[in-house]
Amino acid sequence: MTNLEKRLSSHAAFIEAALERQLCGDILTMESPMTQAMQYAVLGGGKRIRAFLTIEFCCMFGGTPEGAADYACAMEMVHGYSLVHDDLPCMDNDDMRRGLPSCHKKFGETVALLAGDALLTQAFYCIGSHGTEASYAANSLAVRALSRCAGALGMCAGQQIDLAMNVQNFDALKTLHRLKTGALMEAACLLGYYAAKGTPDPITEEKLRTYAQNVGLAFQIVDDLLDVNSTAEMLGKPIGSDAKNGKCTVLNFLSEEEALAEAQRLSREAAKLFADYENSSCICQLPMYLLHRKK
Ligand code: IPE
Ligand code: IPE
Ligand code: MG
Ligand code: MG
Ligand code: MG
Repeated sequence: MTNLEKRLSSHAAFIEAALERQLCGDILTMESPMTQAMQYAVLGGGKRIRAFLTIEFCCMFGGTPEGAADYACAMEMVHGYSLVHDDLPCMDNDDMRRGLPSCHKKFGETVALLAGDALLTQAFYCIGSHGTEASYAANSLAVRALSRCAGALGMCAGQQIDLAMNVQNFDALKTLHRLKTGALMEAACLLGYYAAKGTPDPITEEKLRTYAQNVGLAFQIVDDLLDVNSTAEMLGKPIGSDAKNGKCTVLNFLSEEEALAEAQRLSREAAKLFADYENSSCICQLPMYLLHRKK
């Protein structure tokens, strides 16, 4: 196992435990199908890439995994919500997620819709409850970044373009990918920085955005390719979803070889950005590692 793989698995175990605490009965005190669906959607699966970015950037900028835990949980809650809604019949209409029936298949559409809404809201509770008074400035930066990246200027805007299905060229597809996938990666990276430093720094924030956008674009290219080339057993979600829904993907504009070359280029660009920072080896290796993922 490489050092990156070790850290991926240790951060994933760490965030799994933190998410269990965040979604347990001490905090979600009213047990209901909705709270069960929230737990189902978030716990026990997923690669935890967004949480990894938050924790790893926090560590790189001098913080600790513990100091990043609340923000990393918030990232996985927002991501989990986005997947629950993305799978709904009115969106991608996909029946499997992370190797199990998707949330609406298990709990019904109404509960899945509410669980998504509640996860999104709970994420902000998680950030707002982080730390003591000394964390207020960082929390406010984190709320601002995550709400911008998740909402009408970020992920939701991307989902809107994805559903409108009038993507005419590769640049328009890149805008779609940047919004629906890059934006949450961007929030994950920024939140890691805020957890460590607690103050804005335009130059570093711009670097983090560029890194996240390159990683996000490459990530979505690979996701589009896996939708065609993988199997449901391997991916844990249905393959052929994009074709079924007539979605525009990278393969509308590039051959598979060209798409991979583009993803490689983006990953190399991302890796360069933090090469001369201390303790950045995982951040620099992650983009290439994600390129070769099988799920
Ligand atoms: C799936 O994200 C949605 C996309 C942006 C392609 P992930 O592939 O990170 O999903 P999990 O969290 O590992 O299940
Ligand atoms: C979704 O993209 C990205 C989100 C914002 C949830 P996809 O629709 O391609 O993600 P998968 O393939 O269902 O995970
Ligand atoms: Mg989708
Ligand atoms: Mg989908
Ligand atoms: Mg996909």
